[in-house]
Amino acid sequence: MEGINLNQIGVSFKGSGSYVPNQILTNEEISKKVDTSDEWISSRTGISQRRISGVSENVSEMGFKAAFAAIEMAKWDIETIDLIILATSTPNDLFGSAPCIQAKLGANNAVAFDLTAACSGFLFAVITASQFLKAGSYKRAVVIGSDQLSSYVDWNDRKSCILFGDGAGAIAIEATNELDNLIGFTMRTDGQRGSFLNLPSQNNQDLIIDNINYSSGGFSTIEMNGQEVYKFAVREVPLIIANLFKKTNFNSEKINWLLLHQANQRILDSVGDRLNFSSEKILSNLSNYGNTSAATIPLMLDEAIRNKKIKENDIIATSGFGAGLSWGAALIRWG
Ligand code: ACO
Repeated sequence: MEGINLNQIGVSFKGSGSYVPNQILTNEEISKKVDTSDEWISSRTGISQRRISGVSENVSEMGFKAAFAAIEMAKWDIETIDLIILATSTPNDLFGSAPCIQAKLGANNAVAFDLTAACSGFLFAVITASQFLKAGSYKRAVVIGSDQLSSYVDWNDRKSCILFGDGAGAIAIEATNELDNLIGFTMRTDGQRGSFLNLPSQNNQDLIIDNINYSSGGFSTIEMNGQEVYKFAVREVPLIIANLFKKTNFNSEKINWLLLHQANQRILDSVGDRLNFSSEKILSNLSNYGNTSAATIPLMLDEAIRNKKIKENDIIATSGFGAGLSWGAALIRWG
């Protein structure tokens, strides 16, 4: 795909879509596997159940379904899509899963690539796509968040296995020479604190021939220091959103919806409190899906758009945060 200068100054949001697998794993069912209870999980996290991909599903398959629904809502001809970015930490192909979605869609004129930033991935991908659109390089982009953490959860670790689920969400973004609906954004990472949450490679050493050794590829399961991740989220997320409000001259009164990465209801409530958001403005569906990593924000967004909670021109303050450590915030006007 060649970049052309279309003299664009902003972006607008044209459609959303999502997909979750059919298999439901409830708290009651998890408590048959590890020593926990529905009461413990619900009260500490707000999560009641999560979706688990079937063996024939993967990140591309879920991402394709979410992207297709977003493109349908936008009423776009598939051939007009220039860019597809897939935010994922659990690709079904380490060389890139986005081109597989491109092929399934038949988006022959698009360039497609993956972007990895854990639970901040979708936000980082929306910001990345918007730069191409605002620069005038491309006109139409589809941004997808799709993750299948069930494949990397240690199902014997009660401290982490209760949190995660699988799913995908997507949005359709278009360049415009009118008002910019990505009002502002900030992105941060801190690798010094990266050890709080990892999905590290796990290599076995072997010899190719006598004097040449190598590490075979593979991955461990999710390793998490839950308390440190919790402290990081409740400290950094209000700060980054408050700074963005200052930079853009907004405050919680002027915002219709607070849309945070759906990690834990206690994190959502604490961040909302610190920023003076009333509870009705805090979007939450983690009770049904748990933490689906890069998918939580578009999954929640799509649900709120389709049930007409979020309306055209509503202002949304959104924030993604997680492994890296990585975090970011954006102010979006829907439409
Ligand atoms: N069921 C029953 N008891 C449990 C469970 C469980 N599932 N898990 C832990 N416990 C026990 C612990 O063993 C501990 O017992 P002890 O006091 O006898 O040692 C006790 O409960 C308290 O454990 P804590 O770890 O202090 O529990 P906490 O209140 O911190 O809740 C939780 C744990 C839910 C993981 C919380 O720390 C949290 O949500 N952290 C944020 C994690 C997160 O959101 N991670 C994803 C980030 S996004 C991304 O990038 C993927």
